[in-house]
Amino acid sequence: MGTSLETLHIPQSESQLFDNSLLCSDTLDHYEAEAREALLRVTDQLAAVESPTTGPSPHDLQKLVSGIDLDAPLGNHADSFDELKKIYLRDAVYFHHPKYAAHLNCPVAIPAVAAEAFVTSLNTSMDTFDQSAGATLIERRLIDWTTRLIGYSANTADGIFTSGGTQSNLQAMLIARNIAVSKMTGSLPQRLQNLRIYTSQDAHFSISNAAMMMGLGHEAVIAIGTDAWHRMDADALRTQLTNDLQAGLLPMAISATAGTTDFGSIDPLAPIAALAKETGAWFHVDAAYGGGLLLSAVHRQRLDNIELADSVTVDFHKSFFQPIGSSALLLKDAHSFESITHYAEYLNPRSQAQQTPNQVDKSLQTTRRFDALKLWVTLRTLGAQRLGAMFDQVLKLAESLEAEISLRQQLTLEAPVQLSTLVFRFTVPNAQLNQAEHNELTNQIRHRLYQTGEAMIAATTVRGERMLKLTLLNPNTTMKDLTEILDAICRVGNDLLFERTEGARA
Ligand SMILES: Cc1ncc(COP(=O)(O)O)c(C=O)c1O
Repeated sequence: MGTSLETLHIPQSESQLFDNSLLCSDTLDHYEAEAREALLRVTDQLAAVESPTTGPSPHDLQKLVSGIDLDAPLGNHADSFDELKKIYLRDAVYFHHPKYAAHLNCPVAIPAVAAEAFVTSLNTSMDTFDQSAGATLIERRLIDWTTRLIGYSANTADGIFTSGGTQSNLQAMLIARNIAVSKMTGSLPQRLQNLRIYTSQDAHFSISNAAMMMGLGHEAVIAIGTDAWHRMDADALRTQLTNDLQAGLLPMAISATAGTTDFGSIDPLAPIAALAKETGAWFHVDAAYGGGLLLSAVHRQRLDNIELADSVTVDFHKSFFQPIGSSALLLKDAHSFESITHYAEYLNPRSQAQQTPNQVDKSLQTTRRFDALKLWVTLRTLGAQRLGAMFDQVLKLAESLEAEISLRQQLTLEAPVQLSTLVFRFTVPNAQLNQAEHNELTNQIRHRLYQTGEAMIAATTVRGERMLKLTLLNPNTTMKDLTEILDAICRVGNDLLFERTEGARA
């Protein structure tokens, strides 16, 4: 049965339909009122937040969201905002809360949030200059700025903003694949089947997913072992490369990580760069997380040799305190973008490529948000030094927390702190838990803290063992907040063990 306009509750007169509903010069009063109201609601909500989460279950939220009749509009923004409070704002996860220490989410720089008003209201699209004008030039300046931070030559390097580290890594691998394939002979399937990507066993899964999306399969990614700090073992990489070359395989790319998701570890960039050069492999550095070190007045040297990479991923929406999404892929040689460029007569004709700066020539996206503006306004308002100092503060907090953890008998760190993540186990020596029980206890500790909203922490698995993980990205968090989180972990862990013993007795 077809749906009529009446059952959809859509007003039928044209003037009713479009009055005040589209942003244009006639509707600015309406826009301002609605945007102000939204802003008030957000600030009221942020002011009222008392915990990083209310600990909702997917089931409870599902009921609320499913109960909404999308074919019955409320007709005014106040009611739709009221509804939003119930289904989203009230139970949202608040990354700016000092007891949020779960994933790589940062509190956002205020100028960047304000810049969103321009990004969304103008709705600029970054694909071509004729849809973006100054926006393209602003993005290009930021790309130049970032390539300078990396240490690339300004004359030869280039880059592009992307939606996130996953996309930046995918694009890097795609360029590496295209360049590798262009040097080989045989049918495409024959050429693809021998390509291999090397990364550490602690690398982000986006590298493996990129291989899958490019038709190489997850098997094409070789996970190299790591040392006690979870950094790629360069000797093991050398051995693997030698064996694979002897077996007729072709090292397409080596992806080092500068700041692994779990341990913040930075792979040894210089020896890996040398191996990439020796074998002709593309050298990529995934600095999605560690990229913040580029602005550090204290720790920049930890990224020494990053300029040896053919490509670098930097996520501004992690350690540069930008709202999602804000990432970039930077290339040492701008010409490498040519391997993914597609010209379309209706958009970016080849004939105009020389005289028109069309960013779509370098992007996997066509229509694309002007995400660069957020970083631009942040830099023009606060400056790079302030951002670097914020990340330095986070690193300092992590070091203090490491010292605090090592004072606690029930907590054992898996590896020394390297950026701002801490992975550790909660143990009770005489509890006599087997591995499965211990893993379950770890999951329960995390879940109970979530349910009560006391803190949001993460967990990860290392060699089959479930461990707790804290990820710090909030420079406003204090050691008091963090010691309270550790106290809560130990208290909840001991409570759970007690409940377990009581349960066994009953
Ligand atoms: C090292 C690393 N690379 C890539 C990514 C993926 O980034 P995104 O979530 O922005 O796609 C992450 C995400 O945490 C990461 O930690």
